[in-house]
Amino acid sequence: MRILVLSAWVSALLAVSACAGGQDAEENRTTPPAESPAQEAERSEESVPEAEEPETEEPEPQPVSQASTDPDSVHVLVNKQNPLDPLDFSPDDLRDVDAPSEFGEAPLREAAAGAYEELHAAAAHDGMDLWATTAYRDFDFQQALYEQRFYEDGAEAADRVSARPGHSEHQTGLAIDVADLEDRECYLRSCFGDSEQGQWLAEHADEFGFIIRYPEGAEEITGFQYEPWHLRYVGEETARDVADRGVTLEEYWDQPPAPDYDEEYQPSS
Ligand code: DAL
Ligand code: ZN
Repeated sequence: MRILVLSAWVSALLAVSACAGGQDAEENRTTPPAESPAQEAERSEESVPEAEEPETEEPEPQPVSQASTDPDSVHVLVNKQNPLDPLDFSPDDLRDVDAPSEFGEAPLREAAAGAYEELHAAAAHDGMDLWATTAYRDFDFQQALYEQRFYEDGAEAADRVSARPGHSEHQTGLAIDVADLEDRECYLRSCFGDSEQGQWLAEHADEFGFIIRYPEGAEEITGFQYEPWHLRYVGEETARDVADRGVTLEEYWDQPPAPDYDEEYQPSS
């Protein structure tokens, strides 16, 4: 009897132990042994192939400014398709630049005047003899200049070199024409661009917030022939960016080309 009880007890114990062993085996099949974080990282590096970098071009950075229709903005866009509004606009912070000028005065808006004085001082320091010719021109002055060309050379020729009143950057108080009065051969002519002053301006004007507004070969965009003497103030950040990209102001501000006016000119008298 005693042997019978002992044998039943041993059988029960063996059955429990076999059951537990089965459970362990099942667990071992589905759960891998625990890894340290370092081992895990190493394994995942080994097993996941490195994704190939797709070849993408760097997107062009956004312009630092946008075209404005506000005539008081230094970013106002004025061309044959974008007249000043109002047409007889006149800025209210004009002052004469404190620098040599052909006609004894050369008014610009305050910010542009200070910037031009710095530009002139830097040019003089580099041995450049630079004179302001005309800067701000009001509606009537621009009209007189344009109509003189209009009657002398005809509308088509006039429109390539002179802006109609209400369409000139000079009327914004942000543009200035410069020249070398010691050597007038290239006075307001394209060869000024080859002079040492013209070369200096092409290289340095942007450092003072000015751009060469009518570059060579861009007449179909700007509407005007090459004018290496016409400086337009847009502020230093914009000027540097425009110069770095080597584009016209129309292109920089993503505006349509402005080769022509929409209408024929109606002379004032
Ligand atoms: N010569 C430039 C285009 C002007 O008349 O404003
Ligand atoms: Zn000009």
